[in-house]
Amino acid sequence: MDVVHSAADMRARVCAWRRAGARIGFVPTMGNLHAGHLSLVELARKRADTVVASVFVNPAQFGPNEDFASYPRTLDADRAGLAAHGCDALFAPGVDEMYPFGVAEGVRVDVPKISEVLEGELRPGHFAGVATVVTKLFNLVQPDVAVFGQKDYQQLLVVRRMTMDLRLPIDIIAAPTRRESNGLAMSSRNQYLSSEERERAGVIYRALCAMREQWNAGRPIAAIESDARAVLEAAGSIPDYATIRRADDLSAPYPSDRCGAIALIAIRMGRARLIDNLLLDP
Ligand code: PAJ
Repeated sequence: MDVVHSAADMRARVCAWRRAGARIGFVPTMGNLHAGHLSLVELARKRADTVVASVFVNPAQFGPNEDFASYPRTLDADRAGLAAHGCDALFAPGVDEMYPFGVAEGVRVDVPKISEVLEGELRPGHFAGVATVVTKLFNLVQPDVAVFGQKDYQQLLVVRRMTMDLRLPIDIIAAPTRRESNGLAMSSRNQYLSSEERERAGVIYRALCAMREQWNAGRPIAAIESDARAVLEAAGSIPDYATIRRADDLSAPYPSDRCGAIALIAIRMGRARLIDNLLLDP
């Protein structure tokens, strides 16, 4: 597997692959790869001839009090994992390579509305940081298809919207969420949990499943949401939200809406902030 650090080198390789008629698949990540990330690579492998993964901890998507400095960086292990899963090239640029004018003075890509609710409300500027770096990465890698996890559902919607609005000829594919045996969605941030907290954090998936069950039984949304919050609090977590939204734009469903909905949860537990979601339609 090739490891590429500079934008110019990445472009040269992409040019050569394109000349050879290869279909390019792309999996952007921030590294510290787990089985969830690697399942994205496997999915890209099925849809493309050449698969590129990026590892870049993107400063623009972290708030001033967030974990940019302490975010786990494990490039050697990431390289080995990607190579073992059939990735052809790893793009691992430095910050200067991605932000030649610095983060504060660089061009920003903003996706209004969908970026402003839920995670966007709690993490101002986060999705502009994501949309900006994904635009830059798409521009360098020029993929035909890019794979994103459903785990970060709002991010998936932001990227889809950005891709459509910028008229980028890229298929955005959603990959299912990989979970631990207790239902906890795999995440690089699970490392911030003690083993006891990790066990307790299984409550997120249990709460999501209960929300789905109650939704299918026709219970009112407000009652479902307040039950979920109570379950999350009883397990010693602080819920930021436990909510049911329309799956297409994350707006509140009308009481009569019974399809196209999703349950989303964000909690704080110990040092970690964790998010997860579940589509509600049978
Ligand atoms: P990161 O958190 O490293 O995630 C990279 C990709 O892996 C995302 O598409 C995410 O949804 C997916 N992913 C994470 N956990 C998963 C799981 N348990 N199962 C399946 N897929 C999972 O998301 C980012 O990085 C960044 O915001 C990025 C898009 C790279 C932009 O910087």
